Amino acid sequence: MGNRQVLIELHVNQLPYRLTVDPSTTLLEVLRRDLGLKGTKRGCDQGHCGACTVILNGRAVKACTLLAVQADGKSITTIEGLSSGDQLHPLQEAFVEEGAIQCGFCTPGMILSAKALLDEAPEPSEQEIREALSGNLCRCTGYVKIVKAVQKAALVTRVSS
Ligand code: FES
Ligand code: FES
Repeated sequence: MGNRQVLIELHVNQLPYRLTVDPSTTLLEVLRRDLGLKGTKRGCDQGHCGACTVILNGRAVKACTLLAVQADGKSITTIEGLSSGDQLHPLQEAFVEEGAIQCGFCTPGMILSAKALLDEAPEPSEQEIREALSGNLCRCTGYVKIVKAVQKAALVTRVSS
């Protein structure tokens, strides 16, 4: 009972972090509050909108639905880990070029869900893209441009690799 704190180690965007957390703290809170990675958005905070999506050991997960202690020892990629220096990730470039960003609130989560898909399936069908993004809600774009952007990024990635 009381204020029991737990020591955890997270590998976020390839950097190790050791943190003491309350066992009830979500991964989303740790990323935003403790690590200052505000690119991971807090929308519904209930697992519905996907704005908080990050990649955990290769899988897209909703950070608001996980406790930080569940991520102990695991590797996490947030949107801040995608670009290298000034160089945007092909998914980020494609989202800009295809006009797949309006208010931008859903964008980090969309891009990370798409990245987890492309890492597994470099040539996804439109259906596979839609399924991979089905947990990410966008109120602005109507999804067509987002799907196009993922298709474009998949093509660019295949051509350049
Ligand atoms: S903030 Fe996590 S799913 Fe909405
Ligand atoms: S661009 Fe606004 S919610 Fe998707």
